[in-house]
Amino acid sequence: MGRNIHFEIFRYNPQDTASIPRMQTYFLEETINMTLFIALTRLREEQDPSLVFDFCCRAGICGSCAMVINGRPGLACQTQIKNMPGHISLHPLPVFKIIGDLSVDTGVWFREMYRKTESWIHTRAEVDPTLEEARMDNAVAEEIYELERCIECGCCIAACGTANLRPDFMGAAALNRIARFMIDPRDERSEREYFDIIGTDFGIFGCMGLLACEDVCPKQLPLQDQLGFLRRKMGFAALRQIFKTSRPA
Ligand code: SF4
Ligand code: SF4
Ligand code: FES
Repeated sequence: MGRNIHFEIFRYNPQDTASIPRMQTYFLEETINMTLFIALTRLREEQDPSLVFDFCCRAGICGSCAMVINGRPGLACQTQIKNMPGHISLHPLPVFKIIGDLSVDTGVWFREMYRKTESWIHTRAEVDPTLEEARMDNAVAEEIYELERCIECGCCIAACGTANLRPDFMGAAALNRIARFMIDPRDERSEREYFDIIGTDFGIFGCMGLLACEDVCPKQLPLQDQLGFLRRKMGFAALRQIFKTSRPA
């Protein structure tokens, strides 16, 4: 017989004016290879059909099951109950708009982030669909692919002190996205144009550098390296602007 796991789960329905944020207690017997996804599904099916949470892939790919698990943002589908204590508290990710209980709207946040960072290749080159695709150096392609592995789960934003204090802070996911375009040789944006997007307190200069983002990223993205890269690049760009020895191109 497995442990009787004690769950404390945040409950709140923002659509119901009578709903008051509260913690609700559940108990569930642990089974072999039980993940938090399995536990929540069983709680909903066997005890409380009103419980709201998000899942899609169950394989750490879609990013929709992110929540705060015993105080730390993480993916529920990748959390093995056997590695957890007998008491598990669950909250929705902070920073994002709550939909209900453990479900938040990361989509609106990420769409706005793509708009702010102009998250697409900027080029004046004409596209000719009849031509073969242009080749890219393998090492550069792999570097870009490494940063493209972000699943937009929102864990890095939820764990970020600055993002929790300032809703308009871009956060590690957005800065990682910018770094991805900076190393892409097809993107023709100048240093000055990048500076205009992230060279502020809402961008790289608002980052406190304590790296909670990298600690919680379930895909182990090299966020520390990217934040350092951007800080150096934008720091030099700022100095060039201050001393006006040579303005960023
Ligand atoms: S290092 Fe920067 S982006 Fe990462 S959690 Fe800290 S303040 Fe946020
Ligand atoms: S950088 Fe990591 S933690 Fe942040 S959204 Fe992407 S996968 Fe999630
Ligand atoms: S359900 Fe897709 S990442 Fe967990």
